[in-house]
Amino acid sequence: MPLSRRSLLAGSLGGVTAAALTACGSEVTDPVAGQSAAVPTEPTTITWWCHRLTDRRNGELAPLLIAAFERRHPQIRVRLLKAPSDTDTNRATLTTQIASGSPSPDVFLGDVVWPGQFAYNSLALPLDPYVPQGHWKKYPKPLIDACSAEGGVYALPFFIDESFLYYRKDLLAKHGLRVPRSWEELAHTAAKVRRAGDVGHGFVWQGSVYEGMTVNFTEFLADAGGSVVGPDGSTVTVGGSAGTQALSFMRELVASKVSPSAVTTYIEQDTLDAFISGRSLFLRNWAYAWGASNAEGTKTAGRVGVVPRPGFEGREGSGRSGLGGWSVFVNPHTRELGGALAFARFLSEEGQQVLLRESSYIPALTSALNSRTARQLGSPVLDNARTLELVARPSGTQYYPKVSKALYTGANSAVGGSASVRESLSAMESEVRAALKGAVL
Ligand code: GLC
Repeated sequence: MPLSRRSLLAGSLGGVTAAALTACGSEVTDPVAGQSAAVPTEPTTITWWCHRLTDRRNGELAPLLIAAFERRHPQIRVRLLKAPSDTDTNRATLTTQIASGSPSPDVFLGDVVWPGQFAYNSLALPLDPYVPQGHWKKYPKPLIDACSAEGGVYALPFFIDESFLYYRKDLLAKHGLRVPRSWEELAHTAAKVRRAGDVGHGFVWQGSVYEGMTVNFTEFLADAGGSVVGPDGSTVTVGGSAGTQALSFMRELVASKVSPSAVTTYIEQDTLDAFISGRSLFLRNWAYAWGASNAEGTKTAGRVGVVPRPGFEGREGSGRSGLGGWSVFVNPHTRELGGALAFARFLSEEGQQVLLRESSYIPALTSALNSRTARQLGSPVLDNARTLELVARPSGTQYYPKVSKALYTGANSAVGGSASVRESLSAMESEVRAALKGAVL
C-alpha cells in the first residue's frame, strides 16, 4: 500500500516534538522532501492562490499584502493566482490540482471549514513542526480548533469572518423606526419601508445552493436554540423544533416578499451589490461589508449602520454569528518550502497590520485585534467582533462537503418553495446522517 505523504510525515516526525524541531530554528527541514524550511536567501518565486479580497476602497487587497511582504523579503517574489470567490468552486478547483501532485500553488488561502477534508486527503501540509511552541495560543481557540484535524494544525489563521446586520440609517430615521431588536421586528420594519417604496428589497442574505446558505441556515438554527449535530459531533439534531422555526422563518421572509425570491440564487457579492446600490434596507454579511458599503462611489457611503445579528423573540440571546474566515495553507508538494512558509507566516503575523490598516477584515491574531491601532480605527465591526457568540459548522469530518451539501440543498428547497419545511428537514436529517458515515450521496 503506498504511504500517503501524511502518514510519512506522521511517521518520520514520530517522537520528535515541534519544540525540538523549532529549537533548531532555521535548520528545520521537511522530513519528506528534504527541503530547507528556512527563509531563502537566493531569489525565489512562489505562487499564492487567493480569491478577491477587498480593501477599504473596494479595491484589491492582495497586491498590498504582497507588496508589504516583498519589502520585508526582497529576495522572494509572490505571484498571485486568482481563485474563484465562491468557496465551493474554489475548493473543487484546488483539490483537483493538488491531488494530481501539482507543486503550485505553493501557498493557498482556504476556508476555515476545509481542514478536515484537506488533512485527511493529504492536500495540505501539517504546520506544527514549523512554528514555535505556544504559537497557536496567539489566535482565538475556536479558530485553531477549526484549523485542526487528524491530530495536527493545517493552516495559519489569517482573518476571522463574523457576520453582522447592516442597515440603512437614513431610511430608518426617515420613517422614525428603530434598529430591529428581533428577527420578527426586522420583518415588520422591512415590510413597512418597502411598502413606502423607498427600497425594492427589505432584507438580503445568502441563500444560493452553496456553502454560504449552510452558514445562514446554521446561524438561524442557533438563534432558534438548535444545532446541526449534538455535542458528540455525530448525533444529528437538525430536524428538531429549532430547525422548524429557523427554516420556517427563512421561508416566510421570501413568501412575504421581505426578501426577494432571488435570495435563493444570491452569494455574498450579489447581496452586497443589492445593498450598496441602494436596493435593500437590510443586509446580512461578513465584516468586510462595512468597508465596502462605506466606500466612495456607493449609494450607501455614510448612511450605513451595523449591529450584531438579532435573535428570535422569546429566545435567549442575540449577536450570534457563523464562525467563518480564511487561513493560510501550504501545498504539501511545494518545491519552495522555505519561501512558502515565510509568506504564510507573514500573512498570519506581520501582515495582520496591513489587514487592519487597509481593510475591514477582522484580524485573526488576537494581539492585532486588541491593539491600540484597532481600537483607534473606531470600526463598529472590530469593536463588536470581540463580543459575538460564534457558531461553528460541523466541519471536523473529512466528509464535511457532503454534510454541507445536504444542509444547503435542503434549506434552499424550503426557502424557494419546491419542498415543504417538514420535507426539507427530514431530507437534511437523513442525508447528514448518511454523509457523516461517508455514504456517497
Ligand atoms: C466566507 C466565510 C467562509 C464561508 C463562506 C460562505 O467566505 O469566511 O468561512 O464558508 O463565506 O460563503
